[in-house]
Amino acid sequence: MSYDVIFLKEKLKNNLLGGHITYYRETESTNDDAFLLALQGAGEGVAVLADAQSKGKGRYARTWHSPPGKNIYLSIILRPPVALDETPRIPILAGVTAAETIEYFCAGRVFLKWPNDVLLDGKKICGILSQLKVVDEKTYFIVLGIGINVNIKADEFPHELKTSATSMFMQTGAFFKREDIIIIFFENLEKWYKKLLQNGFEEIKSAWLKKTDMVGKKVIINCSSDRISGRVQGIDDNGSLVLVNKQNETISVCAGDATLVKE
Ligand code: BTN
Repeated sequence: MSYDVIFLKEKLKNNLLGGHITYYRETESTNDDAFLLALQGAGEGVAVLADAQSKGKGRYARTWHSPPGKNIYLSIILRPPVALDETPRIPILAGVTAAETIEYFCAGRVFLKWPNDVLLDGKKICGILSQLKVVDEKTYFIVLGIGINVNIKADEFPHELKTSATSMFMQTGAFFKREDIIIIFFENLEKWYKKLLQNGFEEIKSAWLKKTDMVGKKVIINCSSDRISGRVQGIDDNGSLVLVNKQNETISVCAGDATLVKE
């Protein structure tokens, strides 16, 4: 099924975020498209949506499986009026938004794995790629890329994802209209974004903590060439993961890939 773009644009036309969407049947990566639009001056909330991506990008230069007619591939430009050092709060906010959106449609416990993987039944259902571009001290933008596995079936995932990925269809046996999910996603994103700008990070941080099962667990964080291990305490005011290591030192990790250690 292809998108009903006219319906979607009509529903979103008054939104601050998503009110202006560029749609492609196929593109290389909606994040690359949104990045280019932002460099050309596109404003806050401008979004790019594609039915398929030929070079969908994941975190750490991985690829994101992006077949046509199945899933959501969406990127949004944000120009948050906050200090540059507060921008790591945005990917955390995006994780809360995505988890809340998936929970709205799929019964069952949705978990967040730091920084912002959304897991259902322990398997990845949504990934978020947040890219920051600093033009100068006062000018920067963020491209928030969201991939949600919606109607893809188990046998349609490539071999290497078969045991680690899931979709809304696989969890419920129901097909979803992707437009409905995008509309709720933008509603939630706008709600959390306004909260961040008006009230700060506290409410988002506690929503994130309510949706994770990592606290108290042992993890290994791979970040570039480093491996850091410790027990998770929570996240700090910048969205960094707070760990206590074997030497009882408290460490904040601002980026990386987390793996839970079985005990
Ligand atoms: C991850 O590795 O978990 C992040 C995956 C992000 C995928 C989305 S799909 C829409 C947007 N365009 C891309 O190329 N990547 C992001």
